[in-house]
Amino acid sequence: MSYLREASGPAAVIHRGDYTAPAFWIDTVDLSFDLDPSKTRVLNKMTLRRNPDVQAQPLRLDGEELNLARVLVNGQGTSFKMDGNQLVLENLPEGTEPFALEIFTTCVPVKNTKLMGLYVSNDSFFTQCEAEGFRRITYFLDRPDVMAMYTVTLRADKAKFPVLLSNGNLVDSGDLEDGRHFAKWVDPHKKPSYLFALVAGQLVAREQRITSRAGKDHLLQVFVRPGDLDKTEHAMNSLMASVAWDEARFGLPLDLERFMIVATSDFNMGAMENKGLNIFNTKYVLANQATATDVDYANIESVVGHEYFHNWTGNRITCRDWFQLSLKEGLTVFRDQEFSQDLCAEPSARAVKRIEDVRVLRTAQFPEDAGPMAHPVRPDSYLEINNFYTVTIYEKGAELVRMMQTLTSRAGFAKGMTLYFERFDGQAVTCDDFAQAIADANPGSALAALLPQFKRWYSQAGTPRVAARGEYDAAAQTYTLHFSQSCAATPGQPVKEPFVIPVSLGLIGAASGAALPLSVDGQAVGGSHLLVLTDAQQSITFQNVAEAPVPSILRGFSAPVVLDFDYSDAQLLALLANDTDAFNRWEAGQRLALRSAINSIASSANSTSATPLNDAYIAAMRAVLRHPTLDAAFKELVLTLPSETYIAEQLDVVDPQRIHAVREAMRLQLATALHADWEWAFAVHENNGGYRPDPVSSGRRALAGMALNFLCLAATQNGDSVWPGKTLQRFKDAGNMTDRFNALQALVNSGHALAGQALARFHALFKDEALVLDKWFALQAGTSDRGGQVLPAVRQLMAHPDFNLKNPNRARSVIFSFCSANPGGFHRADAAGYVFWADRVIELDAINPQVAARLARALDRWKKLAEPYRSAAREALARVAAKTDLSNDVREVVDRALA
Ligand code: PHE
Ligand code: ZN
Repeated sequence: MSYLREASGPAAVIHRGDYTAPAFWIDTVDLSFDLDPSKTRVLNKMTLRRNPDVQAQPLRLDGEELNLARVLVNGQGTSFKMDGNQLVLENLPEGTEPFALEIFTTCVPVKNTKLMGLYVSNDSFFTQCEAEGFRRITYFLDRPDVMAMYTVTLRADKAKFPVLLSNGNLVDSGDLEDGRHFAKWVDPHKKPSYLFALVAGQLVAREQRITSRAGKDHLLQVFVRPGDLDKTEHAMNSLMASVAWDEARFGLPLDLERFMIVATSDFNMGAMENKGLNIFNTKYVLANQATATDVDYANIESVVGHEYFHNWTGNRITCRDWFQLSLKEGLTVFRDQEFSQDLCAEPSARAVKRIEDVRVLRTAQFPEDAGPMAHPVRPDSYLEINNFYTVTIYEKGAELVRMMQTLTSRAGFAKGMTLYFERFDGQAVTCDDFAQAIADANPGSALAALLPQFKRWYSQAGTPRVAARGEYDAAAQTYTLHFSQSCAATPGQPVKEPFVIPVSLGLIGAASGAALPLSVDGQAVGGSHLLVLTDAQQSITFQNVAEAPVPSILRGFSAPVVLDFDYSDAQLLALLANDTDAFNRWEAGQRLALRSAINSIASSANSTSATPLNDAYIAAMRAVLRHPTLDAAFKELVLTLPSETYIAEQLDVVDPQRIHAVREAMRLQLATALHADWEWAFAVHENNGGYRPDPVSSGRRALAGMALNFLCLAATQNGDSVWPGKTLQRFKDAGNMTDRFNALQALVNSGHALAGQALARFHALFKDEALVLDKWFALQAGTSDRGGQVLPAVRQLMAHPDFNLKNPNRARSVIFSFCSANPGGFHRADAAGYVFWADRVIELDAINPQVAARLARALDRWKKLAEPYRSAAREALARVAAKTDLSNDVREVVDRALA
């Protein structure tokens, strides 16, 4: 008997309000795998019992693309039926006694291009089960609130698959007949099915034994393909740092004898926190100085940390249902961001990390929150859960947790975490449970006082806007700030109630530039004050303000909001020069640049001024660049103009070509007006001694790289051939990938004639390094468009022998770099970019719906586009939506976009 079922009929929208507890619990799972790429046999023996709290009903097990061969209940054959993708068992034992259920299925890993469930990559087996991949391995109650103890036996050909891994501890292994062998793993922790994992293949491991603070010994392992062992040191160091940090900061120790990381080059996401057996995209594991950039090193540190921190926030306490996804993701992003900050030796490096995180939030999450896919941090409904692994769930979710820390203090928040684990360890819970625990541990805090209102952050989508206005009374020496807050409607939420918004404030003397001491209600409060906005309108008055101040509002980006304040240029220049808060210092520079960009876009509709930036801005940038004490990483951030995407977000009607032209003019102006300063900056920062990926030296490399980029750009204007020549030489001589790639980028992005030979050489040098080839592809697909040359180049790249649409990293390096990260190249007046996009979405959907749906989101903001872009984008979306056999993933994205 064999049944093969495919998804059938339109899938239903799932609503958070419909949650009910499962009708059955699964206590134990004993899985045996006979691994074979073209037909893997899976024997699944479970013990189940009825949930006494739920009315008796049939058992409905999820399954997808499985061949079902046998079902036994307590060892006996039983009747069953199929309902769509579910296996339905009606004749089960009555009562709440445990019973045994045995299910035998087969699947075809080698044909699994979705990379969900059990799949083959480079001749090894991997699994990916979050969110709903386990049902592609066996029939199961594939939901996170069903937690079971797992025993797993793996059998495979020993020569082809010498390493056999699963969650937990290895309890047995040995040889079998016919050149096969086996390994048996027992996970001592119960877990939801989405945390199940297995790996089998030819892998080697870097190993490290550690002793925890509590005196326990652990084995840490990083598994990679045989040639990659020399690229695992940084991942291992990051893992050791993560273990130490979670113990020191939150008192959370490693609860496993063995903690494994395995890298695979075919992976839909960044990495996955499977209990004791994290599976990573190679991009977030492999690094040495010859192949990885400083940014890669930093990303590896934060992703290794992130997955490790999930061991407590996600695995020990998991989500009741997928609407609670931010319970684990927002919290764990917050934890990885804090981890990376705490690893910084210098306070200024902490600020740099914060600025980088906010930049991601504002360029990716704010647009999401203003577009058709806007959803609350705890969504109310979805068609496809895979579409909700978003910057809102992750990055905005992290901001919510950070605000809770701000409202309870760092120590208070740590107490809240302790209470959270006391209450819920081993359970599947909700965002409400988390917020309640943090508040309950801090009874006197603003969070406890405002909890019901604070929780609107979880239920209301959209980015709040805070408008502020200041009044200085020189005679009374008072300064009053008036605030009002609002939030635009989002799909399904026409009206928003006021949020709890913590606003960190300071005052800078407009004339003196001094940080002014603050006093509120007759009390001195130091140099910074936390005002908690709760009403639609609110004011605060500072006393004893001896001179006209410039307000520094939302220091450290204390809440994920848009702040409107009618700063004069002079006020922004004062903040840029003098604010004690590094974030707002950077922000002042961004506001100045943004203002110039918007003015230039609005004026002269068709011709672009060659000098959108005014002299004062240029002088201020020179002062920052040449500043004696600011560090290089911070300078590089200040001198980076707001992105085209961020500029577009500020406009009601978006002409992407106009934005591109204006921003390019601004870049050229910075290149030429600061030419001597860039030469100075390069000379001073080019030599960093031996390579170390620490914040200080990577900041120096970033600034040197920026200088080269501007010097090559200037060369396109002044005909200089010296700097392009020097850049090519640096490209050839570089001792690390950061310097080499920055030089290559300078040549490619300036469109210099030397770029071609540099690209060819780079390819030849790194033809066997997949992650480096990804950079090579991405650079060309993402390069600055000059008259439409990028799209034809992208088409050529797709025809390159090294291109492979089935490999997500490679597909992203070409297609996403163009459609999602190169607005000037993608938004073409002839609509060819959109035609290309639609073709790729359809093509990818047949291979890997998750990847296709991410690409589909490149047109999220189409309604803001000016003509002719808008109509052309709608047509492209409609063409995709007209396909009747789309995945739920793509269906949800394009239907929402067109709604
Ligand atoms: N849970 C993973 C993380 O954030 C992300 C992920 C989701 C990976 C779904 C794979 C599939 O760490
Ligand atoms: Zn995560």
